Amino acid sequence: LKNVPLFNSLANEQLKTLFRAGITKSFPKDHVIFYQHDHGDTFYIVITGKVKITLLNEDGKEIVLSLLKEGDFFGEMSLMDDETRSVSAVCVENTTLFLFTRNQFHKLISNYPGLLTKIFTEICSRLRHANKKIESLAFLDVCGRTIQLLQQLKLEQGEKTNAGIEISHAPTHKEIASMVGASRETITRIIKVLKDNNTLVSYKGRKVILREHANNLLI
Ligand code: CMP
Repeated sequence: LKNVPLFNSLANEQLKTLFRAGITKSFPKDHVIFYQHDHGDTFYIVITGKVKITLLNEDGKEIVLSLLKEGDFFGEMSLMDDETRSVSAVCVENTTLFLFTRNQFHKLISNYPGLLTKIFTEICSRLRHANKKIESLAFLDVCGRTIQLLQQLKLEQGEKTNAGIEISHAPTHKEIASMVGASRETITRIIKVLKDNNTLVSYKGRKVILREHANNLLI
């Protein structure tokens, strides 16, 4: 719990108390932690692994709102507003979580009110991301959204190589599809167009090489 940003202002003794108040649980890849509209009674912290926060429809289509990693928390909304789960949460890989019950969560924030400010700041950041997502869904087509995502990855992870700008942990075509709200086939078609017009050098598995000067990535 020492490495969890939410708890980084707590002393060792306080962390020990927290540790005794919760439990650790591990889940396999693809395990659904909860579905949207489930009753919510637990607050979660990611210890290892990754969790996607996602909207699923009945046909199995999904749009991933956020990918949570080590140290991130989720599940606070239902515990604060007494509504059902706002979205679904699924393990992207084998994942270990630290769990607090509803009562423990409320005790936690009344004993350490500083935690509320941190939770609130994180909710602000998530709302900003969600607003950006609404903006791109409303104003950009699938192609524009894919290009925006590649540009974002280029800024966050891009490394200069002889062949161009390399992104070594890019999402697969299927993962891009669920991030931009399109089918896998459409994304594969868009990637091909980007290759044909020389924006992309290659897209193999998770390794993408973009042309160095394709800043605008225009088609
Ligand atoms: P809760 O509604 O209890 O269960 C789903 C959780 O996903 C929610 O609490 C938040 O912790 C988290 N969540 C909901 N919407 C988003 C979002 N847009 N971005 C990141 N996390 C979210």
